[in-house]
Amino acid sequence: MDSISKSFEHNEEEELSLQKTNQSFEEFLSRLPRQRGQTPRFDLCLYKGCWYRPFLLQGVIAAQHFEAQPTDIFLCSLPKSGTTWLKALAFTIVTRKKYSDLSSHPLLSTRPHDCITFLENANQTAELPLLATHIPYHSLPKSIISGGSKIVYIFRDPKDVFVSLWHFLRRATPKDATNISLEEALELFCKGVSTYGPYWDHVLSFWKARKEAPQLVLLLVYEEMRKDPLPSVKNLADFIGHPFSVEEENEGALQKIVDLCSFENLSDLDVNKKEKQQTLSVVMNNKAFFRKGKIGDWRSHLTPDMAERLDQITREKFGGTDLPSYLSDANTYGNWTMF
Ligand code: A3P
Repeated sequence: MDSISKSFEHNEEEELSLQKTNQSFEEFLSRLPRQRGQTPRFDLCLYKGCWYRPFLLQGVIAAQHFEAQPTDIFLCSLPKSGTTWLKALAFTIVTRKKYSDLSSHPLLSTRPHDCITFLENANQTAELPLLATHIPYHSLPKSIISGGSKIVYIFRDPKDVFVSLWHFLRRATPKDATNISLEEALELFCKGVSTYGPYWDHVLSFWKARKEAPQLVLLLVYEEMRKDPLPSVKNLADFIGHPFSVEEENEGALQKIVDLCSFENLSDLDVNKKEKQQTLSVVMNNKAFFRKGKIGDWRSHLTPDMAERLDQITREKFGGTDLPSYLSDANTYGNWTMF
């Protein structure tokens, strides 16, 4: 049994014991494998095969009691894969009848992260049947899986996720900023030691879930959406039960939503340029959520060897799946669409 499988077995017992004896969270934490991550102030803890910052893990454990309804929709992702964008789109699609006047739309004055809350923020109640989470599929609350809630998962080229994360950890909370080099950060990322990582296991957990229940899991690819958002956004609306009528399509409603939620529009709004906003229990510089929004920005940061290292792991891990081959091939951002 490998160490990750062992950590699953160990954690099941630990979780039960935490519930039974009310042992303190610190005691529980102290028994988990721990490793220094990219930021100096927070180690990462391995829980059920996934690396978490301790305070986030507390939210993950609390979320296990969440009682999902079959009508709930969960927007799932790894950090830096398009979470903010997906929140904006899903919110706008679901509320488009209520907020038909786009000139006074809530997204113009409210951050996407305040429109849709994270499941890990167990103390908040959601007004809409929409919640977001970074929890991998295998650690989602049981009620989500057994209750038949729908899941939308967005994922992205790991090279861009890695670069985006490295920047984010420098800009989001300057006092806790990462002080390690890009090379050291890559080493950690490749070993899977990144918040909610390993990247590859996270993506595969949702890919497998989709194989088993395609009617309940929609996969969206950041690159595909960035190149041509309309088909994915239409797909998203259909999947979450808010399809566009022919009249709406003729009136260009889809395009208006795409424009409202675009990187170019959102990143230029005062509300999204603010500093010191709370997201996932942490006060962060909100601007950090909007950096470049580009496909392939890794080219400005990674050497060919660094890129090949990530590509090689991706080829190994995603081999035998129908996940897009361009995720592990620097030269082909092809016309792949299949989800
Ligand atoms: P970059 O750092 O590559 O620019 P998350 O929302 O999961 O934290 O992901 C953040 C990444 O998505 C950042 O990528 C950010 O710039 C990009 N992003 C944020 N809003 C976006 C939008 N509306 N459209 C496209 N990309 C967006």
